Amino acid sequence: MLHHLPVSAYTSREWFEREQRHIFSNTWRYAGFMEDVSEPGQYISVQAGLSNIFIVMGRDRRLRAFHNICRHRGTQLIRAVGKVQKALTCPYHDWTYDLEGNLISVPDEEREFGRLDKSCLGLKPASVDIWKSMLFVHPDPDAGSIMDWFGEVDSLIGPHEPETLPEYEEARNTYEIAANWKIVVENYIDVYHLSHLHSSTLHMYDHAKAEYGFVGPHFTFWEPPVPDYAEDQDSKLPAPRVIPADQNGTWVPMLFPGIGLAASEDGWNVFIVEPVAPDLTRVTNRSRVANASAWAFSKQAARSAHFWSKFGLGGKYEADDATSEDDPMASGDFTSEDIYACEQQQKSLSSPHYEVGPAAVGESPVLTHQDVVLKWLDRQQ
Ligand code: FES
Ligand SMILES: [Fe+2]
Repeated sequence: MLHHLPVSAYTSREWFEREQRHIFSNTWRYAGFMEDVSEPGQYISVQAGLSNIFIVMGRDRRLRAFHNICRHRGTQLIRAVGKVQKALTCPYHDWTYDLEGNLISVPDEEREFGRLDKSCLGLKPASVDIWKSMLFVHPDPDAGSIMDWFGEVDSLIGPHEPETLPEYEEARNTYEIAANWKIVVENYIDVYHLSHLHSSTLHMYDHAKAEYGFVGPHFTFWEPPVPDYAEDQDSKLPAPRVIPADQNGTWVPMLFPGIGLAASEDGWNVFIVEPVAPDLTRVTNRSRVANASAWAFSKQAARSAHFWSKFGLGGKYEADDATSEDDPMASGDFTSEDIYACEQQQKSLSSPHYEVGPAAVGESPVLTHQDVVLKWLDRQQ
């Protein structure tokens, strides 16, 4: 057992498929930022558990979501992201749908089919909603409002107004971690590791004063800056302040399943966890900051050695020769430290000698998250 879950929950194809079917096909899936689909004809597609879904903006500027399945023989209508003028045409036999999902033309209809009742062959709808500047889809067309799902945590994840902040596109990043998605989530919500794995990278915040817990399936977390960092803080922030001057700290919730946010005084970031295989997870990071020009200016400052030494930022272990430059523990980057920890943990799972020790108080969210996963799988059996 790995606390409340068996090791196979982190390694087996069977668990992976159960989670895809019962968790990721039955919850709201992050699809992008609202800017990604902001003009008529613009679309984006995303895998939501077992379903591929796309969002398209209609000529009426309304967002609609559809299952990305041609009603003829099921070919995916669209790939990734793009823009069309008026209609979506399937690449296989050119059946064409309007932006509202209606089938509007079938090549050689008369000769090949006689008469078709095209009104029964529209695209199957899914649900789409916007929350905190993010687009979400749900495979169920009757999923209701996203506030039914996130409403209770809405006030606990920081005073930020991400819809007013431009994206900092340079910070866009997607990478894969050779570990199960739950290991990545557990690492994100493990409060115990903050002072240890990240002793040199996240020491600006006071982990001993962290306030955290669960609201339904969602994890919430806030911690204040340490006194040194709090003093005259605005002069130390790497980017301009985005929340009211009397509010400080960092909010790092992990919304279920795998929707991490990281919001502090100077920025608002998403950390989206997407299971790819039992032992492989894709993470997508995107960021919003105050405004591009001010940020560009302070980024220059950030590049100077003086800036970094001011905060004592640097790797946990100083690289002492050229070969240790690749050492994630000497990177000075807390994400590299986390990836390292997750991948090492996943590797150990295959050892017959693997056994987990007691859980610290600061690891209680890890256990609760395991219970949430179990509950979702049980109730959907
Ligand atoms: S599968 Fe789409 S037109 Fe045939
Ligand atoms: Fe971490």
